[in-house]
Amino acid sequence: MTSQIIPVEPFDLIIFGGTGDLSERKLLPALYHRQRDNQFTEPTRIIGTSRSNLSDGEFQEFARKAIHEHVQKEYIDDEQVEKFVGRLAYVSADATTGEGFAELKQAIGDSQAIRAFYLAVTPALFGKIAAELSTHDLITENSRIVVEKPIGRDLASAKALNDQIGSVFGEHQIFRIDHYLGKETVQNLMALRFANALFEPLWNSAHIDHVQITVAETVGLEDRVTYYDTAGALRDMVQNHILQLLCLVAMEPPSSSMEANAVRDEKLKVLRSLKRINGQEAPKTTVRGQYRAGASAGGPVKGYLEELGKPDSTTETFVAVKAEIENWRWAGVPFYLRTGKRLATRVSEIVIEFKPVPYNIFGEAAGNVSPNALVIRLQPDESVKQFIMVKDPGPGGMRLRQLPLDMIFSDTFGGRSPDAYERLLMDVIRGNQTLFMRRDEVEAAWKWVGPILDAWAETRQEAQGYTAGTWGPSASIALIERDGRTWHESN
Ligand code: BG6
Repeated sequence: MTSQIIPVEPFDLIIFGGTGDLSERKLLPALYHRQRDNQFTEPTRIIGTSRSNLSDGEFQEFARKAIHEHVQKEYIDDEQVEKFVGRLAYVSADATTGEGFAELKQAIGDSQAIRAFYLAVTPALFGKIAAELSTHDLITENSRIVVEKPIGRDLASAKALNDQIGSVFGEHQIFRIDHYLGKETVQNLMALRFANALFEPLWNSAHIDHVQITVAETVGLEDRVTYYDTAGALRDMVQNHILQLLCLVAMEPPSSSMEANAVRDEKLKVLRSLKRINGQEAPKTTVRGQYRAGASAGGPVKGYLEELGKPDSTTETFVAVKAEIENWRWAGVPFYLRTGKRLATRVSEIVIEFKPVPYNIFGEAAGNVSPNALVIRLQPDESVKQFIMVKDPGPGGMRLRQLPLDMIFSDTFGGRSPDAYERLLMDVIRGNQTLFMRRDEVEAAWKWVGPILDAWAETRQEAQGYTAGTWGPSASIALIERDGRTWHESN
């Protein structure tokens, strides 16, 4: 699916947590793909750092293994792999003591190339690393810092983290990653909305009945026991990924250009228009769930508590929310959001369901006239489907049927769909912040999520058990069916 590749300027990328999971599974493979497409310009260097004592050679071997493990065989080109690992160096550094930062400075030298510090480490280290970078005079005007979620666990902690980073980097240098924004189909949502005249006149409460956003996973806890149990599905997925998707569906066209702040200003307005969910409303508009033992991917799986080894955890692994946006465009249009672990299938999709036709002229014999729906499938099998009613062929009279006008990206474009990190890493180097979250967006998202968390705590709203391999607790079905609607069936 890759189109013309425009090389980026030479850069030094310093990955803190260079030997960690994110670096191994995502960053190094993504960078390798960019190498393979010859997107780098000389001299480009990548420096891994972590507390472990490794030589350059050992880090290069780590990268080779990561590539072989996480890049499909057909894309492994030995010559390019060697060219890529040839760019890698390693410096051992410890942000808690400041040890190793002088060596890092030495390794970078006085290069004035673009400098990107990628913090693939626990957020507890963000502030410390930023401070050490400043103390050691490593931040140039051409530097950027990249951080991953979780940016806080509530508004106050998010503000504190933002303050720590913001005390040494300007906002224009801070790249807060939400990897959902790097997914191809997510960006397509913008193309769909703002490069076609067809949808915009219909994109409002006069024509749209409701919106559904589902991010369903089949995986369970994986090996993230400590983090996940202190976070839960609302913090882990809704505060960031799902709200970002909601923003892209709901935002106004950005003024004049796709300039980063023009887009982010519009997303911010959406976040600020979200109707606050308080203690009285939460039991009616939110559902918490926790998976029990069941079956997933063809085999039996343990329940959350057994996987966790902690019988009394009340953390939710599923959440459904009926959200509302209080503005002219969306008043009265519910946005049903749901996400969970160990669900029936892995699928992320956005469903825009239009209002039904005002009157059915075909009569009962023709069958139901279902409302039109636009279904944007983010993963897997990225596609856009517009469901419309058509006549069933044949002489048997007028029978109606709903069928999709569909565009399946792999059929249409063929080839490999780049991973979100490839696009996002190159945007960091290009200095393009459009697909990154601005400080005020992160904080506005917490302002909406915080009261839900408070309401759950106040009213002791329980996480209802659901069998692994299903679509979550029955209360999630009731949440939407109470409004006379149903969750779209993904297939
Ligand atoms: C992460 C969450 O941000 O996104 C994980 O912390 C989740 O819990 C993951 O599994 C899902 O990402 P993707 O790209 O696999 O849909």
